Amino acid sequence: ITHGTIYEAIGGFDTINKLVHAFYKRVGNHPKLIPIFPDDLSETARKQSLFLTQFFGGPRLYEEERGHPMMRRRHLPFEITPSRRDAWLACMAEALIEAEIEEPYRTAIFEKLTLTANHMMNTPE
Ligand code: HEM
Repeated sequence: ITHGTIYEAIGGFDTINKLVHAFYKRVGNHPKLIPIFPDDLSETARKQSLFLTQFFGGPRLYEEERGHPMMRRRHLPFEITPSRRDAWLACMAEALIEAEIEEPYRTAIFEKLTLTANHMMNTPE
């Protein structure tokens, strides 16, 4: 089932975890993002690993634990402005490099996350 997916191609769960670790390290230091995230990002990161696993074609771990993703709805409690979207994506761009995810996967992942991040915006600047 996971044959031929981005998830498999980049190295599976270990690589997703590396990416997520590199990402939340940046989120936790970003002045635009700190106000809306919890101080302890370990649980957020754990859920993100489950989500990205299934988002990139791996086992449906997020749904098993959390049910339907409904990502936009789950983000409504947080004010996600255009500049917060940009900050989120900037953290992700750097994390993709730190996690040593190579082309063409790096761009493919970033483009898919950009579409989702646009969809998550819910507050004007
Ligand atoms: C949770 C912010 C985009 C996936 C969260 C939380 C915040 C947040 C504040 C709650 C953290 C917590 O309480 O643990 C943002 C901002 C974004 C953004 C500012 C900028 C556009 C995205 C995107 C994705 C995503 C693009 C997926 C591709 C998730 C997941 C969770 C989450 C999986 C955990 C949901 C759960 O509790 O089950 N996000 N997010 N987010 N976000 Fe985002």
